[in-house]
Amino acid sequence: MTRILKVHPQHPESAALAAAAAVLRQGGLVAFPTETVYGLGADATNAQAVGRIYAAKGRPANNPLIVHVSDPAMARRFVSRWPEAAERLAAAFWPGPLTLVLPKSALVPPAVTAGLDCVGVRMPAHPVALALIEACGLPIAAPSANPYMGVSPTQASHVAAGLDGRVELILDGGSADVGVESTVIDLCGAVPTVLRPGGISLARLRAVLGRVEVLADAPDDEAPLPSPGLAKRHYAPRAPLTLVADEQELHARLAARAAAPEALGVLSAAPLNTPVPGLTLKVLGTTPEAFASRLYASLHELDDAGVAAIYALAVPADDEWAAVRDRLGRAATALSEEP
Ligand code: TXA
Ligand code: MG
Repeated sequence: MTRILKVHPQHPESAALAAAAAVLRQGGLVAFPTETVYGLGADATNAQAVGRIYAAKGRPANNPLIVHVSDPAMARRFVSRWPEAAERLAAAFWPGPLTLVLPKSALVPPAVTAGLDCVGVRMPAHPVALALIEACGLPIAAPSANPYMGVSPTQASHVAAGLDGRVELILDGGSADVGVESTVIDLCGAVPTVLRPGGISLARLRAVLGRVEVLADAPDDEAPLPSPGLAKRHYAPRAPLTLVADEQELHARLAARAAAPEALGVLSAAPLNTPVPGLTLKVLGTTPEAFASRLYASLHELDDAGVAAIYALAVPADDEWAAVRDRLGRAATALSEEP
């Protein structure tokens, strides 16, 4: 059975932190809130504990994990090189939703990096996450706390629903408010390269570093190396999700299914101009921050409501929306495409 402990999101109680730290020190798993999504944590220096993360998620062992640290000095112990670019990015964006991929030090077991020479490190901007790292005195390896290919959790209840019995303890510190995962930037090569769009936009990275490239067809979050076909499907709700260009296309799609008495869900930044009775409509907000913050929770809610299909209205094409577009694109798959 999984234990759930409520903690104050700003001032986590020391008893709860001590209990969670004890689980981690003993090689167990603790799910905890970060500002992006909930993480499924283990002692990053304990290869066996890290192995349990992969088992709990059902995630293939070839996808590296992010190591969470409580300050830049801690990050530097787990990398073998700390270039000027890392210093500048950490100063600008830590604590925050940015993961730096750097050559790993010998303290990082290969299980964390899936055998790669580089490790992702991140200092999260959440008092509970930071206090937990400090309480156990360990770096915490943590992917998003969802089963493999599932929608990432932004609330403790999402973790409990997905991983019950497979994690010793969940620290319930309320909602993760950024709502999409960290931006992952690779600093191992000649030019800094974004591997995954996320909470920190490309424009903000370029403002600090100058030249930054973006990996053209970014690998999938959960299965980056092999199986490119599979890799696209991620963050996927149980109900098939289809992207539609505009409200006109939405109404056409809905009309085409009108004969079947089924529950349908719609994700939209703004209210519809022409409301549709009976539809489960989620209006997420017209800024990328608002939209991202509610995206995963809305997908979980639509799944819980048992909708047969989800339609998502396209969001703007600019850089500020890149992370949201990426996550919507991955949730909508070839499988969910309608004839
Ligand atoms: O916001 C986040 O990043 C959340 C919270 C819990 O911190 N974590 C998260 O972890 O999203 P996960 O495992 O779901 O996604 C980690 C991403 C994957 O795309 C992985 O391939 C990439 O980071 N990554 C991690 N270590 C890497 C490395 N050494 N080299 C290249 N990519 C790496
Ligand atoms: Mg994930």
